Amino acid sequence: MLSARQQHCLKGIGIRRWVERSSAPVGAEDILSPTVQEILPPGAITRAAPAKEATKPKPVSARTEICLDSWDDITRSIHQCEACDLASNCTQKVPGVGDRQADLMIIGEGPGHDEDIKGEPFVGRSGQLLDKMLQAIGLSRSQVFITNIVKCRPPNNRDPHRDEVQACNTFLRAQIKQIAPKVILSVGRVSAHSLLNSTGPVGKLIREIHQLPESDIPVKVTYHPAYLLRNPSAKSIAWQDMKTLHQILSR
Ligand code: URA
Repeated sequence: MLSARQQHCLKGIGIRRWVERSSAPVGAEDILSPTVQEILPPGAITRAAPAKEATKPKPVSARTEICLDSWDDITRSIHQCEACDLASNCTQKVPGVGDRQADLMIIGEGPGHDEDIKGEPFVGRSGQLLDKMLQAIGLSRSQVFITNIVKCRPPNNRDPHRDEVQACNTFLRAQIKQIAPKVILSVGRVSAHSLLNSTGPVGKLIREIHQLPESDIPVKVTYHPAYLLRNPSAKSIAWQDMKTLHQILSR
């Protein structure tokens, strides 16, 4: 018997009929609506067990953890996710930090070494520069929400692979939905490409304000602080980006 909360969660993600595995004549996938299968990362759904495992069903509570309609659900699901190989290679998951009702959401690429150790995004040298960029428009870290495209550190700081980005997209989308920010600051190429489904150079993407696909949230792209540390001459462009961001936030 499902609790009222579990029933609510299932309804929220489009599951109208739930059959306990032990009594189900079909696999769990057969009773998930297409919507659910589309929005969940591969591996997040507990798939129908092959016959020999059918005698050892996972508890229903383990399967309802895929519900992403509250912060607790999102954070727990990120910590439990094993949808891609990044999960097994990182020290810990880095879900995000800051004000969950912030007007500004900052989305970077993925945790680096320092973030992997600390469990918080943008705490290394790039993070210190990001803090200064925020201070320049009168904001502190605690007034914004900061997260990344992927929540686990890619080995040797390589770019996350497409399947890894896709697997984490469910969580990012759920975070964006919860925060409903006034504007998103997309930091660097990987973030911009993945948020905007684009392949254009950052130098071009920073020239206009974009819109997050399937939403009306404006997206401002800027250079990644790590790039700015390597190329200080680009800081003046980043400063223009921050001023534009400030204007959007002041509307
Ligand atoms: N770079 C990122 O894109 N994200 C972090 O959290 C740290 C460095």
